Amino acid sequence: MDRSKHDKKVFITGGAGYIGSIMVRRLLQEGYQVICADILNFGGGSLLGIWDHPRFELKKVDIMDHAAINALLREESPFAVVHLAAIVGDPACRMEPELATNTNRDASNNLLEAAMNCGVERFIFASTCSNYGKMKEAGGFVNEDSELRPVSLYAELKVEFEDRLLNQIEKRDDFCPTALRFATVYGISPRMRFDLTVNEFTKELALGRELLVFGNQFWRPYCHVSDFSNAMMTVLHAPKEKVAYNVFNVGDTNENYTKQMIVDAILEQIPEGRVSYVQKDEDPRDYRVNFDKIRDTLGFKISKTVPEGIADILRGIRSGVIENADHQRHYNIPINS
Ligand SMILES: NC(=O)c1ccc[n+]([C@@H]2O[C@H](COP(=O)([O-])OP(=O)(O)OC[C@H]3O[C@@H](n4cnc5c(N)ncnc54)[C@H](O)[C@@H]3O)[C@@H](O)[C@H]2O)c1
Repeated sequence: MDRSKHDKKVFITGGAGYIGSIMVRRLLQEGYQVICADILNFGGGSLLGIWDHPRFELKKVDIMDHAAINALLREESPFAVVHLAAIVGDPACRMEPELATNTNRDASNNLLEAAMNCGVERFIFASTCSNYGKMKEAGGFVNEDSELRPVSLYAELKVEFEDRLLNQIEKRDDFCPTALRFATVYGISPRMRFDLTVNEFTKELALGRELLVFGNQFWRPYCHVSDFSNAMMTVLHAPKEKVAYNVFNVGDTNENYTKQMIVDAILEQIPEGRVSYVQKDEDPRDYRVNFDKIRDTLGFKISKTVPEGIADILRGIRSGVIENADHQRHYNIPINS
């Protein structure tokens, strides 16, 4: 094996997606060779800006094709796997539970096994803070030691694979798997999504529509999409003993918001915005998250806050740089479902 090539090669799944298309760029900037496995569920436009980069290659391989993935990993022999490909979000998994299970659990298990068999040293898995579900005590915070109480198939599958990655496989010194529980994401990406709270609310109000808000009092943690790449790069470069078989929430403790706080932050920038509220007494995913562990262990800090992300989206829409924000490619489930 050519060591220098191996050490600089990263295999990323879902690299054409909302989070992945930024991560691919970060890896290229840091000098890595990037092999991206993606079936382009939302098109390939997000890869155009790096399409002719000499260190980038797309393999249009379905991660559910276990044999193809095994062959690819054997052939490429990457140093690290960054695993982002998934059926993403509660609604998408609820709509296609079998596809979600095959993708998020079975294909992930196969990818992990193939990686362990092919000399991969680092494995980063995109998990989610949805794993925590509803807080036990209203008003409290959850952290990495809190009980996981998933309330959707999406979160159940994430919890299951996390457990396999961190606890079930035989621990080896030459393998370093890390699970990252991402907060709810927002912000601008080459694959724009408008089915996420901050992005969707900003878009609706920016386009002059009346915004309908369900359950304005419920808490969620938020994190800018580019900060996930910063976190994954931090983990990739961290000493193994700090990140191996470990889990970190990714976000910032000061970035927990209720929906009302998000709306208020948008209205500061769009004072003429019209909002109406629908009372909702229960939300199975009402949680505030503590992010001290990644800050204290790895020195990770976010670079953007929700109001800054709102400003970016607003400028993007008002300038016309973001065209046709209602297009299906910006949504992970059919718009009219
Ligand atoms: N967006 C969030 O708020 C959030 C929060 C927490 C965790 N995550 C996790 O981060 C990861 C990336 O999320 P995202 O928002 O970028 O999602 P996304 O839907 O924009 O991207 C997913 C990508 O995976 C690809 N893909 C799906 N199935 C595939 C398959 N079978 N084979 C190959 N490629 C396939 C899709 O084509 C797409 O490009 C996911 O694992 C998601 O669960 C996202």
